[in-house]
Amino acid sequence: MTEVHAPASPWLDESALDLAELRSVAERDTDLRRYPHAAEVRDNVLVYRGADLAGADRRRLQGELIAALTDGPGVVVFTGAFEAAVVDAASGAFDALIAAQRRSGAAAGDHFGAAGANDRIWNAAQKLALQAPEVYADYYANDALALICQAWLGPRYQVTAQVNVVNPGGAAQVPHRDYHLGFVAPGQLTDYPAHVHRLSPTLTLQGAVAHTDMPVQSGPTMLLPYSQLVEGGYLAFNRPDFIDYFAGHHVQIPLDKGDALFFNPALYHGAGANTSAEIRRMANLLQVSSPFGRAMEALDHTAMVRAVYPALRAMKAAGRSPAELLNAVVATADGYPFPTNLDHDQPIGSLAPPSQVDLVLGALANDLSPDALDVALRDQNERRTP
Ligand SMILES: [Fe+2]
Repeated sequence: MTEVHAPASPWLDESALDLAELRSVAERDTDLRRYPHAAEVRDNVLVYRGADLAGADRRRLQGELIAALTDGPGVVVFTGAFEAAVVDAASGAFDALIAAQRRSGAAAGDHFGAAGANDRIWNAAQKLALQAPEVYADYYANDALALICQAWLGPRYQVTAQVNVVNPGGAAQVPHRDYHLGFVAPGQLTDYPAHVHRLSPTLTLQGAVAHTDMPVQSGPTMLLPYSQLVEGGYLAFNRPDFIDYFAGHHVQIPLDKGDALFFNPALYHGAGANTSAEIRRMANLLQVSSPFGRAMEALDHTAMVRAVYPALRAMKAAGRSPAELLNAVVATADGYPFPTNLDHDQPIGSLAPPSQVDLVLGALANDLSPDALDVALRDQNERRTP
């Protein structure tokens, strides 16, 4: 006789959530043997050596990363993911942006930190692209970043970045989950059906690139491995018993400059307290979105492409690999052809009209001049405008 299982409930019931569920998922040990590309397990978190990633079978490695983020600890560290010189060049540009922000008196608001405890650069991807296009192109050509973005989100994704510098004395964040449902008002969460709670984390990848060494006293991200597995977890992260549990069980992985951390946005996490006397902890926080979702920040992709295109041509002329160029283009241009104006931008002979990424890749392949690319961008934007 076939056993018939009751279908999972289509709606989440807040009163059914209890701490025992969080305990039962979080209190387990990560078995390194299940992750053959990983170098080690630190406090239940998988650590990959950046140098090991390049030579691996890409699909197999990406499959392992997907498993790690889905059913595994939910968080991975790539050591040495970014070269120190590339990080330092970007840090220099970020410091200049922060100084300009301070001079203009426009202290960036923050949804987590108290004013003065930290310095934020919102929309840091666009600001870096416009301020220092060569530095930007070199940074986002990074293949460790592309490897995990492709694994979690597919080939075309939308990079957004926010720089956070937490000064000595900066307080810890409250534990939370991230975008999308992490930013929905608590009273509305149960109006989203259970399958949307399962969908939300697949639409975003969270990351952080360490721009300074981050010993534990400087407050690297607090993480609760496996907590992404609590299906109703978006409902629970404000509950005192969950916050207490997080306080007693989170881990913090010290990072070196150039290391990167990536996690499932449903993982319970929060920035740590900076109890050091002198470390200005700088991280470039990456929020990378699926093309099928809406990113949190609005970016002027056309302005970014215009600024960065000469740097991309220079990289090509210098013999940088096609993969690196593709990574930089995908991070810069809009990779998705929709929404568009189908009266003017009809897909003829294909399912979709070309995206801005397609346009830029074609321009690079055909060695289009910046002026010619400018015309092509303007024409494409005109076709897409309602
Ligand atoms: Fe967060």
